[in-house]
Amino acid sequence: MDDAAKKTVLTHFSYGLYALTVKHDGEEHGMTANWVTQASFEPPMVAVAVENSSMTIGMIRDAHHFAVSVFEQSQRDLAGKLGRTSEQAPNKLKGIKTKPAPVSAAPVLADALGWVECRVVATLPSGDHTLVLGEVVAAKTLASRTQGNSRPPQATARTRPSRRRSCSGPEPGRANPPASGTGCDPRPRRRRGGQVRACPTCSR
Ligand SMILES: Cc1cc2nc3c(=O)[nH]c(=O)nc-3n(C[C@H](O)[C@H](O)[C@H](O)COP(=O)(O)O)c2cc1C
Repeated sequence: MDDAAKKTVLTHFSYGLYALTVKHDGEEHGMTANWVTQASFEPPMVAVAVENSSMTIGMIRDAHHFAVSVFEQSQRDLAGKLGRTSEQAPNKLKGIKTKPAPVSAAPVLADALGWVECRVVATLPSGDHTLVLGEVVAAKTLASRTQGNSRPPQATARTRPSRRRSCSGPEPGRANPPASGTGCDPRPRRRRGGQVRACPTCSR
């Protein structure tokens, strides 16, 4: 395979920015996701790729439900916060305004553009991720954010991926890690063939 071409072409894929949330056994959890897509009109379905090592995937399997809130453009910092691993940042939802979705009580972001709640209908192993297919069972747009504004708020969309496998934090001799909301994925970098994969966003 032409690795450079693969990297370039995947760089041209478009992504949105979402909060994937779940509640199980009284515990609420959330993470930032941009590998999210609508997958059917009828019934309405949504697919999301969730990393196998995440806390989120186990909770979704147990709860059989999840919710997807659409970040508004001004919520990049919040996306950065929820994009940290739960090991680095436990209780990520603490201090964030949420409401319970009607079926599973998954916490949806009170200030997002809108949200859908989904019932899991299938999961499929997908390399280091799991594809979760959910049927939409409830949805709401947040009227105050989508109506009556001269400049309606916009969802966050990118034609370059905002998700990077990089930016684990400061390295010896390097400055601090990028600020939250820069789009760098704060999970530990992985080495392939002994080489550190540099982050195209911050070049570290
Ligand atoms: C901009 C951005 C997009 C992300 N998109 C995804 C995604 O689509 N799927 C995923 O599994 N992790 C994604 N991540 C990483 C997770 O948000 C992060 O690893 C997660 O919080 C860890 O999961 P946990 O809190 O459930 O352990 C993204 C991170 C950022 C910063």
